[in-house]
Amino acid sequence: MKPVKVGLLGLGTVGTGVVRIVEGHQEDLQSQVGSPIVIEKVLVQNKSKSRSLTIDAEKLTEDPWDIIHNPNIDVIVEVMGGIEGTKGYILEALAHGKHVVTANKDLMALHGPEILRKAQEHGCDVLYEASVAGGIPIIRTLIEGFSSDRITKIMGIVNGTTNYILTKMSQEGADYAEVLKEAQALGYAEADPTSDVEGLDAARKMTILSTLGFRANVALEDVDVKGISSVSREDIQYAKRLGYEVKLLGIAERQDDYISVSVQPTMVKQSHPIASVNGVFNAVYVYGEAVGETMFYGPGAGELPTATSVVADLVAVVKNLKLGVNGKQELLSYKEKKLKTDEQ
Ligand code: NAP
Ligand code: HSE
Repeated sequence: MKPVKVGLLGLGTVGTGVVRIVEGHQEDLQSQVGSPIVIEKVLVQNKSKSRSLTIDAEKLTEDPWDIIHNPNIDVIVEVMGGIEGTKGYILEALAHGKHVVTANKDLMALHGPEILRKAQEHGCDVLYEASVAGGIPIIRTLIEGFSSDRITKIMGIVNGTTNYILTKMSQEGADYAEVLKEAQALGYAEADPTSDVEGLDAARKMTILSTLGFRANVALEDVDVKGISSVSREDIQYAKRLGYEVKLLGIAERQDDYISVSVQPTMVKQSHPIASVNGVFNAVYVYGEAVGETMFYGPGAGELPTATSVVADLVAVVKNLKLGVNGKQELLSYKEKKLKTDEQ
């Protein structure tokens, strides 16, 4: 019954949700893993900032090494965002034998294979369910649920901010810039929302999904990307009159050895279920040779939905600790198959 001690990197939208779920669902969590889960230390940029939840001031630190090098901490939960600095913290944490849960798709899309290799070397888990589609457990589904099938296509709405903007522009004729501000205030957007509206966030998520789904090496630069910043209210209203909704769709397809991945604003027939995926909701279609068509739907961003996935990963790490099977996760890199791009 020794408590499992967690170092939380970040106490913004997602970090706050993680604290709320770990504290609010403690009894349920404990009954699943057999130990209390304790948030031991929390990294923030500014300890004096006012926060929407009460947290013991002693737990807050502005020094990442208080957590990364803390011998009492078993698991790092990274929900601060950022790429290079954050990668350094995670690699160092792994080198110190700490397991890692992250919601960081930017990091996993760019450096996932390196991070996962390092984790394996040190017998550590790195889990990243929250990095794609917020509260939808799509990563676990692709790795485990479809292990028996050959996936031929993954298609969907994987960015909540842009879907929120497009929905409001379509249903209320709202102004793009105004709705973007709303999405930021609701905690859906990235620190720099350019990556949402220009499609990069969705491209990073499609990189992760297609790598896992096709068991192939897909790199971010292989994805054709176009965002929604040039989509006007008039475009959306015109599409509606023709019987379509405009959605930012990620589409990854495989035919034999040929893989193509794109993110672009797409006119979707109003009769198609994906046209009715509104607001911050995401939907991912997975087509398998054996299973046919499947659809996964749920909130794609926001405090508690995203934290649900993060804490589910935390539970998985703790269960693995009990079983002594950490460090066995999928490698996110499949050397034997080479991606073919449109140019080849
Ligand atoms: P956020 O609200 O901006 O929070 C970031 C937190 O990290 C803040 O507490 C901030 O400290 C801290 N922080 C940032 N840089 C830091 C640094 N260099 N040193 C110390 N502390 C630092 O971000 P978020 O929306 O929670 O997103 C966090 C991560 O989750 C990102 O990777 C994002 O892509 C991913 N994600 C977000 C969502 C979502 O719905 N928001 C969904 C899925 C995945 P202060 O509080 O002191 O400023
Ligand atoms: N900014 C992202 C989105 C957060 O809007 O989908 C969830 O990954």
